[in-house]
Amino acid sequence: ENLLKHIEDFSSDNIAKIEEFRVRMMGKKGEITTLFEDFKIITPDEKRAVGQKINALKNAATEKIAALKEFVENSDLAARECDDYTRPANCEPAGTRHPISLVRSQIIDIFSRIGFAVADGPEIEDDFHVFTALNFPPEHPARDMQDTFFIEKNPDILLRTHTSSIQVRVMQTQKPPIRVVCPGRVFRNEAISYRAHCIFHQVEGLYIDENVNFADLKQTIKYFASELFGEKTQIRLRPSYFPFTEPSAEVDVSCNLCAGKGCNVCKYTGWLEIMGAGMVDPNVLEMCGIDSQKYSGFAFGMGVERITMLKYGVKDLRLYFENDLRFLEQFKAIY
Ligand code: PHE
Repeated sequence: ENLLKHIEDFSSDNIAKIEEFRVRMMGKKGEITTLFEDFKIITPDEKRAVGQKINALKNAATEKIAALKEFVENSDLAARECDDYTRPANCEPAGTRHPISLVRSQIIDIFSRIGFAVADGPEIEDDFHVFTALNFPPEHPARDMQDTFFIEKNPDILLRTHTSSIQVRVMQTQKPPIRVVCPGRVFRNEAISYRAHCIFHQVEGLYIDENVNFADLKQTIKYFASELFGEKTQIRLRPSYFPFTEPSAEVDVSCNLCAGKGCNVCKYTGWLEIMGAGMVDPNVLEMCGIDSQKYSGFAFGMGVERITMLKYGVKDLRLYFENDLRFLEQFKAIY
């Protein structure tokens, strides 16, 4: 009875102490093992009752040890290491940066090295900064309830659908030369799936000066792509359309997973789409108070979630928002 109580009372979150307990109970000279030895020398009519008791002890000890071990194994690894008092450093478990923050700062760093400053702006915007100043015609589908979260109608107040609204604010308040990147959270009325979310992050860029041309845009993007994805990365521009740029392009980078040969990540094309870009439409410059005879500029915009997927092989966008530590801790070594 005493031994049963002892087993029930035992507790430890130290794996060495638990093992010590196991040996003390069930090792070669363990207390329960010894009882089994004694069992051989008692009279046959005592065997039944005594046998039941010893078996009960053995089961109690086995269960106890398994439960304690499981508890220790499930508890945080870092916390367990704190039990080792011989460790030289203190062992506050360090957190990790979110992959979206990591990649956003990588993007900002790359552009800051060629003279781009960071600009910020509000997430709740008006129609002018998100659409009108960017040359969206009144009937453009992006203004539809399908794509945009409206807070108020007439006059329209809404959650920005892109960070181009920051660029409008910069053009309204600064004189060229302007060189900014605009990171921020954007909102679109989309069904959530592995490749779409109603909240995501963008970094857009804007460069305005005298004589800025399409070659400047291409060279800037080429520099960016090789800094982010590696020196050998190639870029490809395909004609596209945006209301605020003319001409406009979609930018692809060569798929570094298959060296341009084609794999399931790049849908067997050898190319991955990373951003939209183009020369700022003179109408936009004028609406933001910049002389389009004197100045020209280029703009580009990319989704941080998408860039992170391509760079680190993340296959489901929803992972970014779930805060599952098993996902987040994989980025511990990156900064
Ligand atoms: N604003 C565009 C978007 O959100 C991206 C873009 C920015 C395209 C600048 C061209 C130039 O999709």
